[in-house]
Amino acid sequence: MTTSPDVQVRDAAGKSGAAGRLAIRDATPGDMDAVQRIYAHHVENGTATFEEAAPSVQEMRARLNHITSQGLPYLVAEQDGVIAGYCYAGQYRQRIAYRYTLENSIYLDPDQAGKGVGKALLAALIRRCEQGPWRQMVAVIAGQDNKASVALHRSAGFSHVGIQPATGYKFGQWIDVVFMQRALGDGAGTQPEPWMPPQA
Ligand SMILES: CC(C)(COP(=O)(O)OP(=O)(O)OC[C@H]1O[C@@H](n2cnc3c(N)ncnc32)[C@H](O)[C@@H]1OP(=O)(O)O)[C@@H](O)C(=O)NCCC(=O)NCCS
Repeated sequence: MTTSPDVQVRDAAGKSGAAGRLAIRDATPGDMDAVQRIYAHHVENGTATFEEAAPSVQEMRARLNHITSQGLPYLVAEQDGVIAGYCYAGQYRQRIAYRYTLENSIYLDPDQAGKGVGKALLAALIRRCEQGPWRQMVAVIAGQDNKASVALHRSAGFSHVGIQPATGYKFGQWIDVVFMQRALGDGAGTQPEPWMPPQA
């Protein structure tokens, strides 16, 4: 299902629409070559993810299948036929009482950062998750210096809820983890629909 076709994005100077039109849609196994290249860049060059060895395309396909088999969204942003970035939501933790809480992940091709693609992707992901039974979304952000991720999540309605100091160690440095969170739909304002996740 196409989620949000023809989303307008900014160019690097902030001019709306000048960067062309962006389609946001459900990811397919065929997108995982591009998704793997994007993620491998961040694994190998940055601290936004705590993985240190880039997963294979086959592993990315298995992860896509794991997410979608739980009824959760895995979206890509495509510009002129090229994947600019992707995001997905997974269960925050596996113990059953966490079942209404999701964790989001989002990664862009570095050449596409700062143009509004992340904001469009995350907004589409939130809309999709609000159609399901889930009530909270948590962003687990590696590094207090990840200004783009903190700003993106704040812009999408997340609030800062805490910091775990020095929880990661990558590239010879200790890395704090920043937690941000927002409600989905009614959040804690009403009782959720009775729901159990499908067996993974
Ligand atoms: C984090 C990331 C997904 C953000 O996506 P993006 O397309 O660059 O962000 P956008 O252009 O949509 O900007 C969203 C908001 O963040 C702000 N922002 C973006 N980059 C910023 C930066 N480097 N510093 C400060 N603010 C920034 C924008 O001004 C915008 O704010 P606004 O809505 O108030 O105008 C992207 O930079 C990325 O892939 N980073 C590397 C991987 C990563 O850190 N992933 C997140 C893991 S938790």
